[in-house]
Amino acid sequence: MCGIIGYIGPRQAVPLVLGGLDKLAYRGYDSAGVAVVGERGLALCRSVGKLDNLKEKLKECPLPGTMAIGHTRWATHGKPTEINAHPHTDCTGGLVVVHNGIIENYLALRHELVAEGHTFDSETDTEIIAHLIERYHADCPLDEAVRAALTHVEGAYAIAVISSKEPGRIVSARYGSAGGIVVGLGKNEVFLASDAIGILEHTRRLIFLANRQMAVLSADEVQVTDLQGEPVEADIKTVSWDPLMAAKGDYKHFMLKEIFEQPRAVIDTIGGRVEHEPPGVYLEDVTLSEKEAKAIERVLILACGTSWHAGTVGKFLIESLVHIPVEVDYASEFRYRDHVVNERTLVVAITQSGETADTLAAMDAAAEEGGKIVTICNVIGSMATRKATHGIVYTHAGPEIGVASTKAFTSQIAALYLLTLYLGSIKGKLSQDRLAVLIRELEELPRRISDVLERTDIYTTLAHRYEGVEDFLYLGRGINYPIALEGALKLKEISYIHAEGYPAGEMKHGPIALITDEMPVVVVVPLERDPLRSKVLSNMQEVLAREGKVIAVVPDGLEDLPNGVDAVIPVPSTSPLLFPILAVIPLQLLSYYIAVRRGCDVDQPRNLAKSVTVE
Ligand code: AGP
Repeated sequence: MCGIIGYIGPRQAVPLVLGGLDKLAYRGYDSAGVAVVGERGLALCRSVGKLDNLKEKLKECPLPGTMAIGHTRWATHGKPTEINAHPHTDCTGGLVVVHNGIIENYLALRHELVAEGHTFDSETDTEIIAHLIERYHADCPLDEAVRAALTHVEGAYAIAVISSKEPGRIVSARYGSAGGIVVGLGKNEVFLASDAIGILEHTRRLIFLANRQMAVLSADEVQVTDLQGEPVEADIKTVSWDPLMAAKGDYKHFMLKEIFEQPRAVIDTIGGRVEHEPPGVYLEDVTLSEKEAKAIERVLILACGTSWHAGTVGKFLIESLVHIPVEVDYASEFRYRDHVVNERTLVVAITQSGETADTLAAMDAAAEEGGKIVTICNVIGSMATRKATHGIVYTHAGPEIGVASTKAFTSQIAALYLLTLYLGSIKGKLSQDRLAVLIRELEELPRRISDVLERTDIYTTLAHRYEGVEDFLYLGRGINYPIALEGALKLKEISYIHAEGYPAGEMKHGPIALITDEMPVVVVVPLERDPLRSKVLSNMQEVLAREGKVIAVVPDGLEDLPNGVDAVIPVPSTSPLLFPILAVIPLQLLSYYIAVRRGCDVDQPRNLAKSVTVE
């Protein structure tokens, strides 16, 4: 997934574009570039590596001008090199394109364009678009040339185009799951971004371009049309996100800031959605009718990565309180399988970014079979929120910049818990008294999260002790098994240590062969009233008996911990259904401090991007 920023107005464009790209660097950071239309026509500057390299080049050769587009890249076609960095130009050098997404028929188009005499510099699919537009721009205005060019393109794209022949105009368009395009309306100036975070400091009046739409921007006007050129009513939203929320503040990394924002994120996700007299849950953006909700016979949860782990916690919540079957499927698997979905299936698509290609495709596949689609999503106006046929449960976690998802994950579980209470109540499975208790336990959770976050001294010690190990094992059972998976994912994606999450009961069926005194094993021990607690303690004994190094995440007051445990991380008690939210926080912090000890790039780990908008 890449970052796009554009600007037209009275101010110098490059500093504004670079400032926006800084905030989007989490979307992709293997190369970057900017193009300006100024007194000297169109000028271009690109660099490989992080954005700072581009800034250094621009310090040496500034590009004056009041219109520019810029791009940070996460490579799909073509290695991360300067020549493959965006923007890409046509043969004349007077027209440039930046692009997010994948052009699936780019090879055929490249052959066609070469046959017409076009010459290519890069290995990218994006460069095709520049030459296709060039084919038409000789005879027509930029917006018409872009529309004509895009009729030949197959795949997904979010693009911005400028031309030296039309200073003061940016043309942008989006199709398919290629990440969003947001237009920001300022005073006699206009901004463009692939994510609102990039321009929030300048304006909160935003137009979220919908799929198959185009925007033609000039400093004092924005025209929105469909891809055939038919005008479309521009839906201007004013978002409440404070730009500071997207800034690091006095935290060393976004990930640490976001770990500590979890009490706020859960409070804001619950806020306005629960009542006490009488007890009830209200999901303002879910459009399921009572009749449709009552007719739901099964739930299918679709997601990727950490969001899939949240969905697996959701399975336990819904099956224990609503007593209907729940299947949790990787979106990337579901979309290609012969699946069984019908109008009595509630499909819950969980996605922080709302732009994950596999999740979006899975939503389409489920909708085609009549599934009722609800999304749990953290980004207003994202593609997933447009595809959800029966509404949205927003996680109001605020912008999550760190590639490793933390506050979005715990907010997703809180949202799933709300959805569970909502369904259980409508379907008559929860008495008023039971509902009142469940709501109260949820409302007490943020304070307990804060308690966990006050106990951080142990992590630097553990990080020092384990920074050099090569393998970790994470064990959990029941509703805490997904927390073992999530803890393992956190560690591997930011510290690059191999880590595996496993159901503790499965140890004896293979993984126990791995246990040595070199192998740290993190064990999530459930609450006293959890029937699996004694089983987990026995599994821990099996590890200890083989000299394994056990790091135990345990509820406060645990008395019956076996001897020989290497480290104990206590967390406050809560209900068994909400314990996963507390138990995951030590695992987030453990992975963070180990990654920092290892000198890893915590917020922008290698090979990863914040949202995977390509297959
Ligand atoms: C989680 O730490 C990872 N960044 C990744 O697994 C992520 O959860 C996954 O790509 C799904 O993203 P989404 O929630 O935006 O769809």
